[in-house]
Amino acid sequence: MKKKKSLNEISWEELKRLSLSEKGIYFQSDPLHTLIAQQFSRQQIEQLCTLATKIRQIAKQRAGANFLKTLLTDKRAMLYFAQPSSRTYLSFNSACQLLGLSTMDVRDTKTSSEVKGESPEDTLRTFSSYTDLIIMRHPEGGFCERVAWMLSHTNRAIPVLNAGSGADQHPTQALLDIYTLERSFENHGGIDGKNIVFVGDLKRGRTVRSLAWMLTLYQDVTLYFIAPDSLQIEPDVLRLLDEANVAYEKKSTLDSILPQADAIYMTRIQDEWDAEHENTTSSMKNFCLNKTNVEQLKSTAIIMHPLPRREEISTEIDNDPRAMYWRQMRNGMWIRAALILTTFQREAEVESYYTNNKHPLS
Ligand code: NCD
Repeated sequence: MKKKKSLNEISWEELKRLSLSEKGIYFQSDPLHTLIAQQFSRQQIEQLCTLATKIRQIAKQRAGANFLKTLLTDKRAMLYFAQPSSRTYLSFNSACQLLGLSTMDVRDTKTSSEVKGESPEDTLRTFSSYTDLIIMRHPEGGFCERVAWMLSHTNRAIPVLNAGSGADQHPTQALLDIYTLERSFENHGGIDGKNIVFVGDLKRGRTVRSLAWMLTLYQDVTLYFIAPDSLQIEPDVLRLLDEANVAYEKKSTLDSILPQADAIYMTRIQDEWDAEHENTTSSMKNFCLNKTNVEQLKSTAIIMHPLPRREEISTEIDNDPRAMYWRQMRNGMWIRAALILTTFQREAEVESYYTNNKHPLS
């Protein structure tokens, strides 16, 4: 196991020069930040998934739900969302409530002193005076890392959880996606050996970038990237797949790949990143799932989507048993609760409660 290193041992310039997996060693120290998908090992992900399932089962009973609410009453979290969010914000907020952690939020930077000219760094340092954890979404790639680094050089080095940064990373979405894949393939040999198909705006979708990397931790997976040429997956992701010896294929049509898919991960067009006068929306019309082409999928295949959706999944298939996107969203709450608990190193209390009490299965 690699020796953990603290962020206050390194300059910002040095940190920026490191590879993603080298950076991960610094994020996993004390405090434990969650900033990039590359910081996780398969073992850590599996531990989080197991913990999420225990929390889910404990929460089904009133006594269990009451127990969970005692775990983090001494902690507060700040939700700083400088970009729109429904699911990520609500699931993090729900995860905090589940564990008894009180929350504060800023969802519109126009309501913070940033409008008075305060730097985002000073704003975040101010938040850190009142909270024990910062959960943040930000339009600028790498900004969460900068904040974690900056706080590690103060006397309140609190953990930072990246809830989506720029077009580059969404590590907690990747965790909930992996948890969904694990649960779905529990009785079908797990994630190893599966064909995972990504469809849509793969160039600017941060969820795909983070999940593609996390899948390199599994054996014999094959990844398919289906997109119009102008929105194909970026070379830096393919480079990471090459380094990890993961098989992949890029394609520009959807239908031929459907019968092979074990999981199909649909994404929307990310047109908020369009340049002025650019119109990428029309290029997506051949990258949709509907009642007809979904018939080509195996009966055991699952359909995923980080949501929100546009037209890429017809509402006609929402009640198909293979449609996993609603459950995927709820899984986000459980895995985020597991992550928060792990961040504060309080998971042992759940383990002993789980061992000493009976739980409804499933
Ligand atoms: C995603 C995001 O914000 O990157 N949404 C989410 O967190 N579930 C996907 C998207 O916006 O398309």
